[in-house]
Amino acid sequence: MEVVIRPTEQDAAELTARFIAAGIRKKPKLVLGLATGRTMESVYERLVRMHNEEALDFSLVETFNLDEYIGLSPKHPQSYRHYMDHHLFDHVNIDPRNTNLPRGDAKDIDAECAAYEALIRERGGIGLQVLGVGRSGHIGFNEPLSAMQSRTRAKALTPETLRQNSPLFDKPGDIPRRAITMGVGTILEAKECILLAVGDEKADVIAKAVEGPVTSMISASALQLHPSCHVIVDEAAAANLQNKEYYRWIFENEPDWDEFR
Ligand code: GLP
Repeated sequence: MEVVIRPTEQDAAELTARFIAAGIRKKPKLVLGLATGRTMESVYERLVRMHNEEALDFSLVETFNLDEYIGLSPKHPQSYRHYMDHHLFDHVNIDPRNTNLPRGDAKDIDAECAAYEALIRERGGIGLQVLGVGRSGHIGFNEPLSAMQSRTRAKALTPETLRQNSPLFDKPGDIPRRAITMGVGTILEAKECILLAVGDEKADVIAKAVEGPVTSMISASALQLHPSCHVIVDEAAAANLQNKEYYRWIFENEPDWDEFR
């Protein structure tokens, strides 16, 4: 795992967007794993800008989102399908047939999860997985005690996650209690991962995920086991990290970051 600290929320989002764009330019047929949440909105805004101003080409990219609320149809304004269309897919030249999210309104949820896993495998696996992190430590919706080897499945949301995400619903009580999520094992199989976290409300969970023990109590800590995972944070989210001096040295000196400085 590698940690990069940028001064502000905007710098961290810019670096994340540029990293994703570089991945697409290197491999136009990239299989890209995507995340939702407030943090990602500014990343998608930047990718749309790069599409418009720098000809960033999504025509051959295929995407798999991490998760979807159970019970919401793709048209529901709080569904993650709606979020993705609204923030990214409708504004770039991606083929809608190449955008995949689990169907939260599937009749047979277990079959939907198995089909999603099979499709990821069929496409050769995820090349670059973009991640955020919830305050409960979740990646996707892998709430505490999610098995390290878990696959795409239904998961009950924690009260903390419900509190964090319910303000996004017109009636906060309408937030579904369950979601389909890629498993921790599914995420760990991506060839490369990039996690973005900003703001002081993420400082505690970032310290646990990055420098704490690997534990299923904090699913994001499983990323310590991943051979190629980059964690991008702003100063606020980095506040509780012990090893900041080293992380700053890495970004300033490692050749992999040359093109992004
Ligand atoms: C949701 C998503 C996660 C995301 C998290 C962070 O719960 N399922 O994939 O990482 O929220 O959200 P935010 O960026 O709004 O803090």
